[in-house]
Amino acid sequence: MADEPSITRWSFQDFKMFYDIKFGRKKESTPKDAAANGQPSSNGNSSNGTSNGNGHPKSTAELSIYEQYRQERENSAANGVTLLDAEKPKKSLLPAFESAEMRTLAESLSRDIIRGSPNVKWDSIKGLENAKRLLKEAVVMPIKYPKYFTGLLSPWKGILLFGPPGTGKTMLAKAVATECNTTFFNISASSIVSKWRGDSEKLVKVLFELARHHAPSTIFLDEIDAIISQRGESRSEHESSRRLKTELLIQMDGLTKTDELVFVLAATNLPWELDAAMLRRLEKRILVPLPEAEARKAMFEELLPSVAEEETLPYDLLVEKTEGYSGSDIRLLCKEAAMQPLRRVMAILEQHDILPDDELPKVGPIKHEDVENALKNTRPSAHLHAPRYDRFNSDYGSQILQ
Ligand SMILES: Nc1ncnc2c1ncn2[C@@H]1O[C@H](COP(=O)(O)OP(=O)(O)OP(=O)(O)O)[C@@H](O)[C@H]1O
Ligand SMILES: [Mg+2]
Repeated sequence: MADEPSITRWSFQDFKMFYDIKFGRKKESTPKDAAANGQPSSNGNSSNGTSNGNGHPKSTAELSIYEQYRQERENSAANGVTLLDAEKPKKSLLPAFESAEMRTLAESLSRDIIRGSPNVKWDSIKGLENAKRLLKEAVVMPIKYPKYFTGLLSPWKGILLFGPPGTGKTMLAKAVATECNTTFFNISASSIVSKWRGDSEKLVKVLFELARHHAPSTIFLDEIDAIISQRGESRSEHESSRRLKTELLIQMDGLTKTDELVFVLAATNLPWELDAAMLRRLEKRILVPLPEAEARKAMFEELLPSVAEEETLPYDLLVEKTEGYSGSDIRLLCKEAAMQPLRRVMAILEQHDILPDDELPKVGPIKHEDVENALKNTRPSAHLHAPRYDRFNSDYGSQILQ
């Protein structure tokens, strides 16, 4: 167990310890607080000292840590000293929460998810013109020109990017963050799925409250299938995860009823696993397909630029042979090709002892056969399922009407 919470991301243990110190016992004496949050029974287990609500018994070691901290807390409070470092608010830009508990969750969320602009420009994403256009129409324009997007034309609040793995969904979301300059909440399952009963749904509630406070904001739920697969499907589904999903659905419903600019942008490569109710809330569903020939060419030209005095690389051959490759497959292929000249240098280096920096041999250009070898050594990873995405797109997807 880590002794100190890391600055960027807390492990569950850190969070649990912190939570127990702050609220573990207090809960018992303040049922009013729990009732105010709408989960009258959610803390029953976390405070009785036998289970953390996830079926794992609390070990005596954990209890003793809790006791130690409680003593420390009482001592320092008696001396008028500030408590643990982690208890100091790290951000002043929090909305007024009704309870200290919510505030603490908000603090941990903002530390975890509000990030600087990711700096991915539209131009660095090759191809995907349809997806870009739909995204601009759905998010960028309503933020830039809110005047037009009122009444029936109020902006879409839920957008789903779906498509095979490695086709640029996460990149597109980052481009939205960069180009729109909204507060960007980059949420993955680990940010909001907590193993403590009742915590996950509170985290979701706090997340949406924070997003409204910082509006315009984008909540990006990457790999949303991990957070919200079909409810009640698996027998092993934990009750708390069902409540997390329900809370997410309620919060997203709330978004459509307000004028605040809070968008939920979700990405998945398993769209058919999504709950029907979630699909309904993700009104705009955008297919992010495997790259077309033109996009592949642009990627090759960027990743393997031609050097003026050397032979030009066989871009046409590359494009022709990479039908069905995803963006990340293409990146791997280029890396493989670019490795070959370095391998030649390494073969030379192995014959010498360590050479000083200025005597190192130069890495040569990429040759025709390097590209051919790379083509032989790489395989597309995502093409087999492409028809399934197309089918989902024609059933549920948003198309551009010319
Ligand atoms: N259209 C594209 N233009 C440029 N690079 C791309 C494109 N698509 C994919 N890539 C490359 O592939 C990598 C993976 O892309 P990204 O992480 O956006 O995929 P993803 O669709 O989110 O995949 P997953 O579904 O597995 O999360 C990127 O870092 C980038 O190098
Ligand atoms: Mg991704």
